[in-house]
Amino acid sequence: MKKHAAGFDLSLVKMRRARAADKATVLDFCRHTFGRWGDYMPEVWERWIRERSGLFAVAEVRGVPVGVGKITVQRSGELWLEGLRVDPHWRGCGVGRVIQDWTWRKAMAMRPRSIRYATGSYNKISQHLGRSKSMRIVAEFDEFTARPLPARETQLVCASNRDLEPLLQLFERDAAARHWHGLLLEGWVAKAFDRDSLARLVRQKRVYAYTDERGLAGALVYLQSKDKKYFNYCRVAARDRATFRLVLHEGRRLAAVLGAKKMEMHLPHALRPRRLAAGTGWRLAMPIWMVVLEWRRAAR
Ligand SMILES: CC(C)(COP(=O)(O)OP(=O)(O)OC[C@H]1O[C@@H](n2cnc3c(N)ncnc32)[C@H](O)[C@@H]1OP(=O)(O)O)[C@@H](O)C(=O)NCCC(=O)NCCS
Repeated sequence: MKKHAAGFDLSLVKMRRARAADKATVLDFCRHTFGRWGDYMPEVWERWIRERSGLFAVAEVRGVPVGVGKITVQRSGELWLEGLRVDPHWRGCGVGRVIQDWTWRKAMAMRPRSIRYATGSYNKISQHLGRSKSMRIVAEFDEFTARPLPARETQLVCASNRDLEPLLQLFERDAAARHWHGLLLEGWVAKAFDRDSLARLVRQKRVYAYTDERGLAGALVYLQSKDKKYFNYCRVAARDRATFRLVLHEGRRLAAVLGAKKMEMHLPHALRPRRLAAGTGWRLAMPIWMVVLEWRRAAR
């Protein structure tokens, strides 16, 4: 199909809810969204189509899908935008703008407290679309990879409800806390990280702690994929740098104990994280980094 030129009549772009029947067309134009890496759209399609909260939308021209966008309700009042895609043949004609404007109106109608999304540091178009809605970059993260360290045990211990207060203090007082902007990361999805979410994560046994003779000294929150292939650190905190490194390293044993094959994590870009992770077996995954944009309702 030939590329469509700018100057195209945008009134022909119609927005509607995505339907199961859109799958083949949408997955076809998403095949190479992020170059060789491809796209995560095939993995999320079925779930996104079924989801009743939020909104998974399609932009169509004369009945053919040419783009998609999604609003996800993470918690009441906290919206996450994701999955913005335009068929490469239709890029540069204003379709992305139509999807963004429509999605934004729908999101605002949900009366949110906050709206966020993540994109690559290189993705100037995506950042421009966010800024045009008075969103701003609030956090930036480098991505790291590591291999699990074959082991039967680890010095990290699964946290319990009793640890909630000290854990909260540890995460709040960690030297990097302000660079996290009150968030944790599940891959490239940022979520609010506060007392409620920490309590839920502890209940889900996704928080592990390191204790020394002075008490709680380090902790990590993780997410493991259902197929156990991936093990991600969602957030790490420690009393000091040496303990931070110890937790980064020890978490690799934990991943092995839990049967993971690959590991990923993000650390705040502002921290010169390459140095912070030195000697822990973690290495920078790519030269670009992740930026998180946010809009917040003004306090009255
Ligand atoms: C990002 C994407 C959805 C944009 O879709 P598109 O239809 O090509 O975008 P549009 O033609 O509507 O242009 C959107 C805006 O970006 C602006 N823009 C274009 N090139 C730009 C650049 N280099 N820097 C900044 N802004 C730029 C346009 O002027 C337009 O702004 P305006 O509406 O204020 O005039 C599309 O490129 C895509 O699918 N990319 C791959 C997936 C992706 O990156 N998704 C987003 C985040 S994960």
